[in-house]
Amino acid sequence: MTAQLYKADGSISRATGPAPNSTVKFFPIFSVANQYNRFQPILELRLAHPLLKRVSEAARRRRMIKTKNLTKIFTTAEVETTAINNVNMEVQDGEFVAIMGPSGCGKSTFLHIAGMLDCPTDGEYYFMGEEVTKYSEKKRASLRKGNIGFVFQSFNLIDELTVFENIELPLLYLGFSSTQRKNRVNDILEQLEIMPRKNHFPQQISGGQQQRVAVARAVISGPRIILADEPTGNLDSTHGDDVMKILVDLNEHGTTIVMVTHSPAYADYANRVIHLFDGHIVTENLKEKYEKQVRPVAAL
Ligand SMILES: Nc1ncnc2c1ncn2[C@@H]1O[C@H](COP(=O)(O)OP(=O)(O)O)[C@@H](O)[C@H]1O
Ligand SMILES: [Mg+2]
Repeated sequence: MTAQLYKADGSISRATGPAPNSTVKFFPIFSVANQYNRFQPILELRLAHPLLKRVSEAARRRRMIKTKNLTKIFTTAEVETTAINNVNMEVQDGEFVAIMGPSGCGKSTFLHIAGMLDCPTDGEYYFMGEEVTKYSEKKRASLRKGNIGFVFQSFNLIDELTVFENIELPLLYLGFSSTQRKNRVNDILEQLEIMPRKNHFPQQISGGQQQRVAVARAVISGPRIILADEPTGNLDSTHGDDVMKILVDLNEHGTTIVMVTHSPAYADYANRVIHLFDGHIVTENLKEKYEKQVRPVAAL
């Protein structure tokens, strides 16, 4: 049997095979099935329109981080530890999120996975819309470059480089000129009060100063997102406030921040606080100015 189908350009195509129903046979243009076939190409054309594609692409990219059932199990000879257990969460572009929870609950592990420095054992991780868990190290490194600034809990400064050189490093990778590098590094050295230490090596400065160098290195290139693991953990309140001022200022200018902290006062700068316990999200608090609400995990 042959059915006549009208295409979007008005031409008729003939499909062989049994007609779906008798209406198609006699009045092809009025049948529901045929109406669908008639408008489907137009619909597809509309969805493929570059402008609409750009809009949906933009919406996808607004989501900086998304995890689906993210799980990380560390296996050593003696013990198996579930550091992250089925975590589902999203961080939108421009958000300031604080992560809190007792020691050992998986905060650093989560941040390492978020920064593509480690891989989950199960689940999915989307960074700026891309599922990155199966990416090669090279691909992950290129996605990190310019997009992520990471403040390590243990600082991870390079012992052989001076304070100035450690902070300058991301700018070198990104091809900034020597003058640009000098200006930017000197600015942040002033802001964080470490200028007198610029030619010292990491072992020659205190833990608090090393932490400020680690923060400076993470923010210097103006990344899209800063993942900061207890960035004020070793600082007195004055220097802690200086670091927070920089993070808040960057956030106000559009940088997304995810910060692990034990300080309720500093968590208060965030617009959302996520509480972890034993690798789970226990609660999520959205700040009053962003409509205060507490959502239990089950509702996420
Ligand atoms: N490389 C690793 N090998 C084995 N266990 C690990 C490793 N890293 C972290 N863990 C374990 O995973 C759990 C979560 O650690 P972590 O993410 O560092 O917690 P937090 O940052 O909240 O203190 C802890 O029980 C820790 O001992
Ligand atoms: Mg930690």
